Amino acid sequence: MKALILSGGKGTRLRPLTYTGAKQLVPVANKPILWYGIESIVAAGITDIGIIISPETGGNIREKTGDGSQFGAKITYILQYEPLGLAHAVKVAQSFLGDSPFVMYLGDNLVESKLDLFLDKFNSKHLDALTLLCEVDNPTAFGVAKVDQQGKVLQLIEKPKNPPSNLALVGVYLFSPAIHDAIAKIQPSARGELEITDAIQYLIDQQKNVESFQLSGWWLDTGKKDDLLAANQIILDSCLDLTIEGAIDAPSKIGGRVHIGVGSNIINSTIRGPVMIGENCHIENCFIGPYSSIANDTTLIDADIEHSVILKGAKVINIEQRIVDSLIGERAQLKPAPQRPKALRFMIGDDSTIEL
Ligand code: G1P
Repeated sequence: MKALILSGGKGTRLRPLTYTGAKQLVPVANKPILWYGIESIVAAGITDIGIIISPETGGNIREKTGDGSQFGAKITYILQYEPLGLAHAVKVAQSFLGDSPFVMYLGDNLVESKLDLFLDKFNSKHLDALTLLCEVDNPTAFGVAKVDQQGKVLQLIEKPKNPPSNLALVGVYLFSPAIHDAIAKIQPSARGELEITDAIQYLIDQQKNVESFQLSGWWLDTGKKDDLLAANQIILDSCLDLTIEGAIDAPSKIGGRVHIGVGSNIINSTIRGPVMIGENCHIENCFIGPYSSIANDTTLIDADIEHSVILKGAKVINIEQRIVDSLIGERAQLKPAPQRPKALRFMIGDDSTIEL
């Protein structure tokens, strides 16, 4: 069994952060989203992993993630020149996959359940495809499945206008090598992509064994800001222990589950968990409220922050109002003008959102 993680694409829904980096490297609880997928694949005993990368962000992903040794795996990087669809990515990876069955994992998805249960069903029933499904409120935004009572998949439609159910296709799939022939037979969709959904539908039409597994735990597709904040909340809720490696002065108060990394200084501040603070941060005269993740090398002075993700090297200094539900990019600076300004001065990247 091999694994193929899709980590290409342009990340348009997370712009402007994704102008400078890959969406799969945006951290959730200070760890790149992509690494959760790698860890869960390795935990299921699969160590031969291919990662699809794009020319724009592939270097970044390769540099951070390495050859896989830090995860106990062997990673092969596979370049997809253009984002021509999930099925196109499988086509590009064909020489890596050979005739092995494989798990395909979208690198910006987070799934609570362990993969073992799905692998057991796939192997014991000798399936050609196993799709993971999850009930959603907005099925038109996903691939949607119609299944019978035993979980056999009857029909799949990508982003349907009139969804046949509220069961969305989660970004984790298991395939036998039969998928390669199906991909060779399908045509690009209206959005110009080779859809994996169409390839699975082809298998169904050929009377192949295609079944589903309905998730009971959470599933997050982290492609947008609010989804990312939701993922951050869930991960901080479920995976954070109290660990204080940095220094806290006497007036500071720490409550609940809080992680403070090596070299970080907390001065005259209140931190109410769950909160994740990375390494070498300077936090002074602040209130840091629940569900905040603060990455390494961040400076926060005279600030009040809650339910937010602050990326590496950002500075937030002397901001009167509470900052909530925010995503602040790497090295971004948020500070008041020297005097109360008559005019506001901005340097704001494309696709930014500022609410004053
Ligand atoms: C892709 C799939 C879709 C699936 C979704 C899960 O959509 O095409 O079937 O439900 O991932 O994240 P995309 O992210 O390409 O819009």
